[in-house]
Amino acid sequence: MRKQIVAGNWKMNKDYVDSEILVSKLLETHQHSDVDVIIAPPFTNLLAASHTLKSTSIAVAAQNMHFAESGAYTGEISAEMLKSVGVHTVILGHSERRAYFNETDELLAKKVDAALANDMRVIFCFGEELTERKAGKENEVVESQIKNALFHLSETSWSQIVLAYEPVWAIGTGETATPEQAQDMHAFIRKTLENQYSATLADSVSILYGGSVKPANAKEIFSKPDVDGGLIGGAALDAEMFNAIIHSF
Ligand code: 13P
Repeated sequence: MRKQIVAGNWKMNKDYVDSEILVSKLLETHQHSDVDVIIAPPFTNLLAASHTLKSTSIAVAAQNMHFAESGAYTGEISAEMLKSVGVHTVILGHSERRAYFNETDELLAKKVDAALANDMRVIFCFGEELTERKAGKENEVVESQIKNALFHLSETSWSQIVLAYEPVWAIGTGETATPEQAQDMHAFIRKTLENQYSATLADSVSILYGGSVKPANAKEIFSKPDVDGGLIGGAALDAEMFNAIIHSF
């Protein structure tokens, strides 16, 4: 049975103090559920968050990492460094990284390999732009993003991969994909995995939806059979909203 996951991507929000306040609030109000909960604060708060959340059921993720083990890569952070502060999950391929930092499928494949070589779990993001959806190319785009960055992986490596479909036009816009649009795409992704690997593998991978998920729409989106949870941006910055989303299952 695949896992249900709600992950909060804080992006470049919350300084050290505000981040500590939000982590404490999450912890205070968090009730145990079968849903895997993950938060991804900025790098400057990973150590503090992983200390505070140690021995709790909330996991901490990084929002990015470099593919190299170490060396002359000014401003970058390696998998080893993340693990040294208790972080064993990383978000890779977010559309903001692709758009503003020129991250290509080829680069992302290297980052995925580095994460897996370090036994890290990867939340791999992808999704089409509005012009691509308008042109009816969303399946083609998503298939090539997944194929180029992940289809070199062995079947066993997939136990460390979580997919996050985030249509770019729905991120931070207040415009969510309809539950049917999310379901259609998630079913297509699962079929693509089945064609490349096996039905068993396709059935075991958690596929999250991301893009303007709020307490008001989470329940309906999560009720779809191929939607295994959400990657939450704005609403993850508020403990009450994030908790309400977690309990939307
Ligand atoms: P919003 O929930 O703010 O639309 O952001 C989604 C996202 O990009 C999560 O990674």
